[in-house]
Amino acid sequence: MAIKKFPGFIDVHVHLRDPGATHKEDFQTGSRAAVKGGFTFVIDMPNNPTPTISPEALQEKIRLAEQKSIVDIGFHYGTDGQNTETFKTVIDNEKVFGLKIYCNYTTGTLLVEDQLLWNNIFREWESKKPILVHAEKEKLPYMIALSKKYNRHLHVCHISLTEEVSMVRRAKEIGIYISAGVTPHHLFLTEKDVNRLGSLAMMKPPLGTQADQEALWKGLRDGTIDLIETDHAPHTKEEKEKTPAPFGVPGLETAVGLMFKAVHEGKISEREVIKFFHDNPARIFNVPTHENTFIMLDPDQSYIMGEDGYETKCHWSPFDGWKLYGQIQMVVIKGKTILEKRKLI
Ligand code: DOR
Ligand code: ZN
Repeated sequence: MAIKKFPGFIDVHVHLRDPGATHKEDFQTGSRAAVKGGFTFVIDMPNNPTPTISPEALQEKIRLAEQKSIVDIGFHYGTDGQNTETFKTVIDNEKVFGLKIYCNYTTGTLLVEDQLLWNNIFREWESKKPILVHAEKEKLPYMIALSKKYNRHLHVCHISLTEEVSMVRRAKEIGIYISAGVTPHHLFLTEKDVNRLGSLAMMKPPLGTQADQEALWKGLRDGTIDLIETDHAPHTKEEKEKTPAPFGVPGLETAVGLMFKAVHEGKISEREVIKFFHDNPARIFNVPTHENTFIMLDPDQSYIMGEDGYETKCHWSPFDGWKLYGQIQMVVIKGKTILEKRKLI
């Protein structure tokens, strides 16, 4: 057993809820959860109560994050299909890392289901920065076709079904500019866990079957799936206990421990963990890296999740009580120690 150095991990998919839903999370608590979990750079999603679909909303987020966050935060711009005119004013902003399209209903009001609007969005996003899609099942082929038509980089978020893995694999085989991410909850939970956890295991896309889960692990190992994204989506426990419960689970503090559990069980290698949490997200989203940004952990050391609480404002996890591996001991960002002996400084 030995503590080792790893590059600072990158999470390209988080919902930090600031501004507008800061009773669930804000840039301070969300960034603290990121560091506690081993992430030194995160990219925030646009589905806030006032969605990030205007240059003003984007500037406000950048300003708040600079004030409150203890890590660097990037942003995905959003679209309702009506704001394509604003793309040119945000596209080259160095804090913008991609454009997110919601093709399915989830938290917030952002939803685009119209084929004509999809087409306009792909046409107008004249950038190498990825178009990220929440596109479940039958929606995905449309996105792949548009990526091909306009030669845009497509990133498929939180892939969850066997058929989606097959679609991405086929698209890669024929040379389409496509990447895909999977969440730890889709890798470690199935629909059966809803019986045990109730609404705490409800999210979009929903948990799949055992067969889906196996397809996701296979996709990770054969390079179809490029990275792990947490889809950190905090809601308070009170909100989750109501009917209908909001969709989503927090993930920043559990993701790395879960993936080292997978290493411990021989499912993937340590090298692959670095690939999924650093190399591929950095390359695909062009995230700036720094030689003096790193984390320290012991991959062989187990711990019980939640024993020392949570930094996320929602203070719960579907993985509470799980035996995980590789607890984050130290985090250094651009030469500055942010976490030492597991404590935030
Ligand atoms: O479960 C989810 N929660 N899926 C999403 O796509 C959005 C997220 C949220 O913002 O709560
Ligand atoms: Zn999300």
